[in-house]
Amino acid sequence: MIAPIERTLAGLRAQTAIWRKAGDTIGVVPTMGALHQGHLSLARAARAACDRVIVTIFVNPKQFNNPSDLDSYPRTEQDDARKLESTGVDLIYVPSPDQIYPEGFATTVTVAGLTDMLCGATRPRHFDGVATVVPKLFLQTSADFAFFGEKDYQQLQVVRRMATDLDIPVTVVGCPTIREEDGLAMSSRNLLLSDRARIKAPMLAEVMQDIRAQLLNGATMAQITPDAKARILTAGFTKIDYLELRDGDDLSLLDQAKPGARLFAAAWLAGVRLIDNIAV
Ligand code: PAF
Repeated sequence: MIAPIERTLAGLRAQTAIWRKAGDTIGVVPTMGALHQGHLSLARAARAACDRVIVTIFVNPKQFNNPSDLDSYPRTEQDDARKLESTGVDLIYVPSPDQIYPEGFATTVTVAGLTDMLCGATRPRHFDGVATVVPKLFLQTSADFAFFGEKDYQQLQVVRRMATDLDIPVTVVGCPTIREEDGLAMSSRNLLLSDRARIKAPMLAEVMQDIRAQLLNGATMAQITPDAKARILTAGFTKIDYLELRDGDDLSLLDQAKPGARLFAAAWLAGVRLIDNIAV
């Protein structure tokens, strides 16, 4: 059965009040729609852990750096609702913009430090947009648990920091990246790739796996990076925003593998920015 879609905060609160009264735990999976298997795996993780599951779909204008990116973001609500059918979620919350940012809305949440590097360096204010909308979604849904993909690992760390700093009583759960058969990390942005670009896209993950193997053999990023970047560019990517090894907790820069290290990459392919990260 397709889960009911709720568009207003009042309607959402009426429903969650009933669940709360019954003593049910609530899990939320915040999304911007254009759902793929990665999102569905989050919904399933929520389903397994919580009595009630809400998936939110809101294309958050505050986290886009340019209007054309916001305009071209895929919007596939009916399709998304159908895809969620198999996961057994209880409610899909699709707020209209005024339910999130009503007239006069004037608050911005900034998480310092974690947002200076990686995607934060090339997408100014992006994480302010994320750190502002996510607590609203937590509080509106009154969720006990919130599920995020490790695909957006920096976002996961930013959300964890924000929830801790603001004393929001939610447990943030990170779930593994889901990949296509050829290794490409699933992302709503993959829909924007042309057929030709889609064939080239898995090269990013392939090079990252090779870097991982070299790091585990004792090589340093300083030694590996020039050749690895050249391979990515030769494969057809036009620009590399970053290819860096960082600590998985505080995201500080590393040159060598150590427990908890992660390799992060962002690169442009035919006008589409792809990101990926793997544990090393
Ligand atoms: O990862 C996303 O889809 C978005 O950044 C999120 C967490 C739903 C906030 O808008």
